[in-house]
Amino acid sequence: MSDTQSRLGVAILVSGGGSNMEALIQAVKAGSVPHAEIALVISNRADAGALSRAKAHGIATQVIVSKGTPDDVFQEAVLKALEEYRIEAVCLAGYLKKVSHAIVQKFHGRILNIHPALLPKYGGAGMYGHFVHEAVIQAGDTESGCSVHLVDDEFDHGRVLAQKPVPVLPGDSPESLAERILKEEHKLYPAVLAQFCEQLVASRRESDD
Ligand code: GRF
Repeated sequence: MSDTQSRLGVAILVSGGGSNMEALIQAVKAGSVPHAEIALVISNRADAGALSRAKAHGIATQVIVSKGTPDDVFQEAVLKALEEYRIEAVCLAGYLKKVSHAIVQKFHGRILNIHPALLPKYGGAGMYGHFVHEAVIQAGDTESGCSVHLVDDEFDHGRVLAQKPVPVLPGDSPESLAERILKEEHKLYPAVLAQFCEQLVASRRESDD
């Protein structure tokens, strides 16, 4: 990050439709995340809907296929892409791969994820997509929500930065609950990214002084 251009290069890692990615891009475009520039979108699947959405915004995309690729080769390629684009912070947005230890180390405290539940409840391996909402309904919880957290070596485990509770309504299906939560995800993630980047820029300025 240069002194004159105080925007952090952010990469978004995706595996699916990319509605959270879209919300982040829209927020940056609208000026609500003044210290971030979405510089790269990486997908581990060639058919991820997020890719065409990113391209429509003129954002660079890379497909690094994970299926059938040895994990070390896959992870190395992701790290190389992040380095090539001089990425400073990473947002996982519906990214279904575990981030390697090398990437967690290189971007220590600078990888964010959004999860559709109130962590630490309903997180961890296998807790993604409809599995999360099914488990919440099955347990009879009256409240769920979404969480933005820092990423460490375990799934859905790093420090929670912000949460938004969402009611579980009588008669909710996993789909209706997911839809209600997703609307909140689209507001929470950009707001947290904005605050995160502002703090990172401020702490770098201080250490430059
Ligand atoms: C979201 O529910 C998010 O919380 C989870 O994966 C889903 C991704 O949806 N990590 P989208 O691809 O952003 O639409």
